[in-house]
Amino acid sequence: MPLNLRSDFFFVLCQRGAEAALKRYVERYVPGLRPGYQRPGLLTFRSAQTVLPESTLDIPLARTFGMSLGTHADLAAVIARIAELPLPLRLHVSECELFRPGEAPLSHHAGELARQTEAALQAALPNQFLEGRQAQPGELVLDVVVAPGDPILLGLHRHTPVQSPHPGGTYVYEVPQDAPSRAFRKVEEAILAFELPLRAGDVALELGAAPGGTAYALLRHGVHVIGVDPAAMDPQVLAFVGPGSARLTHLPIALGALTQAMLPARIDWLLLDVHLAPQVALRAARRVAAMCRRSLLGAVLTLKLNDWAFVDKVPRFLDEARALGLREPHARQLPAHRQELAIAGLTALGEQRRKNLLGGSTSPARRVTVSSL
Ligand SMILES: C[S@@+](CC[C@H](N)C(=O)[O-])C[C@H]1O[C@@H](n2cnc3c(N)ncnc32)[C@H](O)[C@@H]1O
Repeated sequence: MPLNLRSDFFFVLCQRGAEAALKRYVERYVPGLRPGYQRPGLLTFRSAQTVLPESTLDIPLARTFGMSLGTHADLAAVIARIAELPLPLRLHVSECELFRPGEAPLSHHAGELARQTEAALQAALPNQFLEGRQAQPGELVLDVVVAPGDPILLGLHRHTPVQSPHPGGTYVYEVPQDAPSRAFRKVEEAILAFELPLRAGDVALELGAAPGGTAYALLRHGVHVIGVDPAAMDPQVLAFVGPGSARLTHLPIALGALTQAMLPARIDWLLLDVHLAPQVALRAARRVAAMCRRSLLGAVLTLKLNDWAFVDKVPRFLDEARALGLREPHARQLPAHRQELAIAGLTALGEQRRKNLLGGSTSPARRVTVSSL
């Protein structure tokens, strides 16, 4: 008999080590939720409102979320529960992180348990799941969350572009062997997560650009890059020529020394990735954004959370991002992030670009707090 698809609980996946900051953010800013079951990288919250697969959350440290169906002791219990669910289901098996970012030994291959669990479920329940892992808007996603030695958590969410379409809030993109830094991954994920309407031929200004992972990713998209950083850029990135002759221009100066006269008339994208306190970084971004006001389409600002308590200030950071000209900025901690998060959004010009690219429809609504539809 099909289950009543409702619950009293949400589940939320996050970076290992971010759980306490996430809970504190929820306590301060998301009314009606109380902490429940918790494991490293996985939290549940009891909700004052009924939770449906369509219910949504806006929590900057959440990788993904959904309606919780609770924990199950083993695969046999999971299989029995899945058999009660309506079809078709998109299967997303994800594994909680066993290590904090950067702490995994080289021999560790993340996701082995998830791969085994997915294979076992596919074998036990043939033809039950949609083919492939990438969810399409409107599909019902079955979240299966595993961790060695822990019970298996099941959840459901109705996919919308507010979340990643891939298991566990991950993103799928190519990482070339010669990417010079983790920033390559950060910017590829930001482009996907914030749906940035980049186009070949665009011009990006990056503050804190060395050694050049971000620049390399943008050049490969055909975006010209002006990189501001007193440190040296990777020579391979300096020599790289992307589609449409996209090149990197390095300005070897501190961002405080940057003046409008050093910049071309058109800057489409502003990126910032410097080891400065968030308020200082945002103030610097605001000064530079004013130099590009006439052409700017959007910005991606990577803020270093030297103290997790900075997460409490996200609403204030979003106000600063608005003051910089972004219309609906959002904060997200992406899988490639360490103790940091990205604030990103589009200006009015950028929104117009996205609308034109999508053929008239606007960006998906990103709701602010809990809504049970
Ligand atoms: C996290 S790294 C940036 C990584 C870079 N986005 C990439 O794609 O490889 C931070 C960089 O900020 C630079 N930086 C720190 N303070 C700066 C400042 N005041 N102006 C410009 N760059 C700065 C550092 O030299 C360092 O290269």
